[in-house]
Parts: sequence; structure tokens; C-alpha cells
Amino acid sequence: MPLLPLYVFDAYGTLFDVHSAVARHREAIGPQAGRLSEIWRIKQLEYTWVRSLADVYRDFEVLTAEALDVAAAVCGGITPELRTSLLDAYRHLDAFPDVAPALDALRARGVKTAILSNGTPGMLAAAVESAGLENRFDAVLSVDSLGIYKTAHEAYRLVEKRFGIGPEETSFQSSNRWDIAGARAFGLRCVWINRTAQPDEYPDLAPAAVLKTLDGLPGLDV
Ligand code: LAC
Repeated sequence: MPLLPLYVFDAYGTLFDVHSAVARHREAIGPQAGRLSEIWRIKQLEYTWVRSLADVYRDFEVLTAEALDVAAAVCGGITPELRTSLLDAYRHLDAFPDVAPALDALRARGVKTAILSNGTPGMLAAAVESAGLENRFDAVLSVDSLGIYKTAHEAYRLVEKRFGIGPEETSFQSSNRWDIAGARAFGLRCVWINRTAQPDEYPDLAPAAVLKTLDGLPGLDV
């Protein structure tokens, strides 16, 4: 199958390494660092789903801070200075090394590229800029204007609203299996970037392809 006209990427975990914030402060946090980072991410996501189902939106930057506070409490606490440093690091996460080359290869072949994320516009702009990815996207779309998070259909619909390209003509990439399930339920052509070799889930909502990194995406034939 030829390339599709539009490639849309989830941000956190797919383009940006969510664990790079804690990694930068591993020594100051101590032996609980890995656990803190895992709980931080899981709680952040839980808050998006609970708030979406209950229709009580709060933006992703606030949820990220609330999730850090509960993760820190579970792991024995952090100083206010470390809290500030971790939240600042979360605004400037590392991009995975395969991101820029894959985007360049896709764009060189004439396709459009975009981000669709739960992050606020401010968080996403900061992350894109500090990773040096500014000129590699036709749009950076945030659910923030909707007041509801992925996996709500409205969130995925933002892509067609912006580009006028239908879901079957759009390839959606995420490292988050729950996000792939939501995008597939909406009708997007999905590629799961299984960076950390997770077991498969959501058997009725399968991706069209699975890759370990974005390296194989420009040449993918599915
Ligand atoms: C995103 C997250 C939640 O939407 O992975 O970028």
C-alpha cells in the first residue's frame, strides 16, 4: 500500500520519553526513582479517563502536577525544589532518537505530519521546541479546546476537522496501546509503536501494524 497522505503522532511516550524527566533527577530522588516515574505516568492517565467520563475537565498540565504529587507521596515524598525541577523537566522531555529521521523521511515523500495529544498547547509547544522539532509538523493539535481527553471520539475527530482528510486516509502512531484502541475504534489506520515490548491488549481493536520504533514507518507496507 502506498503512503497515506497524513501521519499523526501521539506525543507523550511516542515522540517524547516521559521517563526522561525522572531520569535527569534520578540521583536526587534515590532508589524509588523508577517506581515514582511509573506511578506518575499511570496516575496522570487515570485522571484523564476519570475526568473525561465524569465530564469534569482539568487541563493536562494540572493533572501532570497532581499525578506527580500522589506518586511522590507513595514513594516517600520529594522536596518542593525537586517538584519544581521535575515539572520543568516534563515540559522539556527528550525526544526519542528515531523521531526526527522518521519525520524527515516521511515529509521528504510529501506526506503531512501532525501531533494529536492530550497535552496543553503550551506544554506541546515547549516540548516540540526544546526537542528541535519545530519545522516538522503541519499542525500540533491539542484536545484542550474540547475539554475531553482521548479516547473520546471527539479527540480523534480534531484531525479531520483540521486537515479535511478522512480517518481511513490517516495513519495514527502511538506507543500507548490504549490510544491505539481508541483511534482504531474511531476508524483511523493505526500503527502501534511498541517501544517497550508490552504484551498486546484490546484484541478487538488491533493496529494495522506494530513497530518497535518509528524507524520502519516510512517504508511500512501494510
Ligand atoms: C498524549 C499522551 C497522553 O496524548 O500520551 O500525548
